[in-house]
Order: sequence, then structure tokens, then C-alpha cells
Amino acid sequence: QEHRQPLNNEVLIPQVGFGVFRSPEGPVTVGAVRTALETGYRLVDTAAVYGNEASVGKAIAASEVAREDLFVTTKLWNDDIRKHRTADAFQESLERLGLDYVDLYLIHWPAEGWQDAWKTMEQLYADGRVRAIGVSNFATNHLDELLNDTDVVPAVNQIESSPQFANQDLVDYCHARGIAVEAWSPLGGQGSDLLADRRLLDIGEKYGKSSAQVVLRWELQRNVIPLSKSVHETRIVQNYRIFDFELSPEDMATIDAMNTGERNGADPNDFDF
Ligand code: A2P
Repeated sequence: QEHRQPLNNEVLIPQVGFGVFRSPEGPVTVGAVRTALETGYRLVDTAAVYGNEASVGKAIAASEVAREDLFVTTKLWNDDIRKHRTADAFQESLERLGLDYVDLYLIHWPAEGWQDAWKTMEQLYADGRVRAIGVSNFATNHLDELLNDTDVVPAVNQIESSPQFANQDLVDYCHARGIAVEAWSPLGGQGSDLLADRRLLDIGEKYGKSSAQVVLRWELQRNVIPLSKSVHETRIVQNYRIFDFELSPEDMATIDAMNTGERNGADPNDFDF
């Protein structure tokens, strides 16, 4: 198979994923996911709160890719955590996706009640309804608490991580405990000017690559799985072409030095949604 790595339960996860945050339910997202699958992406990352699981499901149903070759992720939303609706919310996501299992189910944010949600997810995992369970936007304090009281170490923590907010301490914490790290908004997110940064453009010029490709390759080389998002075919294709070059240690260090420590999104210890 193409580029994959084993999770802590031996399930293989693709090293690059396709994200659909802010992609609208309907033909735009169906088309984007179809393009992504045709391009070679096998990991598709959605969430109940994105409101586009049905479109992801349509694209999967229309695709020639065998289900077992796909790696589909969705996430449990905060309101469902707070209302202790984990089992029902999971079932609803499956139905919208038109699938009978997902490869990875994540707690979207450490909302109040997440400990209880995790117990239910352990059960879904034990029942074979999901091939791996994990978390998203968990900081070290949440992970400390979870690891202290679980039989199942989360397979993944999906976090904000980009050159401007590398989140390296958290990445290292996860890797030291066998938790794979996925990066959301690896390209800086909507409206970011990261990709216009001279340092990235200059590095890209040396390899004949765009700044986006440089950033995604940097993630790959620091063992982080980037989930890039685009609704444009040329960018979807471009963002997958990162396996045919390797950044030098000097270029990696230049990108590491871009870290400002400033988040683009919410702080896991201070969010109100
Ligand atoms: P669009 O969907 O209009 O292409 P992130 O993955 O960090 O969340 O950021 C993705 C943002 O960057 C999206 O707004 C996306 O917009 C845009 N984008 C994705 N890929 C590229 C690319 N290769 N070059 C420039 N912009 C990109």
C-alpha cells in the first residue's frame, strides 16, 4: 500500500490526509472528496459539527476505492459530549456517512463530560464499530488525566500544528506515549498569510515546490500527519505531491524557527463552544 504508518493498535494510517473543515454540505464537498480520492488520498477527515458527513459519504459511495483501503475519520461534537449522547451521536454520524464503521473516531474537544464519552468510545472500539479511537485538541493535562484511567491509549491526538504554531512540546509528549499526531490547519488555516512567507517560498524554489508543499513535507518529516484542506482541484493535487522530495536538515531548522507560539484556533484549556 501507499504511504502508511502503524497506529498503537497496528491499524495502518495514511501519512497524509484530506480535510473538509469549512467545506459546505453539497456538490462542492462531494467533488472535492472525489478529486482527493482520485488523486490518491485515502484518509478523509470530517466531523459531525462540519455538517458535511453526508457529502463525504456520497463521494465515498461514488468512488472506486475499496472501503478497506479508505481511512475515514469523524468526530464527536461538544454538545453530544455534554449531553452524554456519545453512542447515539456515533450512530448518527455513521448513518450520515452511509458507512457501517469508521476507521477513527475522535473526541473533538475536551468538553465537559469527555471522560464519560471516552468510556463509551472504548465500548464502541471493543464492539468493532470503529477501528481506532482517539482525541483532538487535548493538551497534556487532558492526556495525563486520560492516560491515568484508561485501558485504551488514544491512537491519535489531532491538534493545531503549523510552522507558526508548531506545538512541538505536545507533539513530543504524544510521540513519547505512542500517540500519533495529526495536524489541523497545517497551512495556517483560512485567511492565513503563512504560504506567502518568503522563507517558505525560497525553500520551495530550491526543490521546485510550492510553499504549501514545503509545509506539508515539513510535517511529514517531523512525523506529523498533515490534514490539508482545499476545494480546488489544482491545490488538492498539489498538496498530495510531497513524497518525491526531502527537505534538508537546514531547511527543516529554518521552518522550525518560524514558530511564533501564537495559535490560530482555540486553546484547549479555554474554549466556549
Ligand atoms: P481553498 O479551499 O480555497 O483552496 P488549512 O489546511 O491549513 O486549514 O488551510 C487551508 C486553507 O488554505 C484553505 O483556506 C485553502 O483554501 C487554502 N489552501 C489549501 N491548499 C492550498 C495551496 N496548495 N495553496 C494555496 N492555498 C491553499
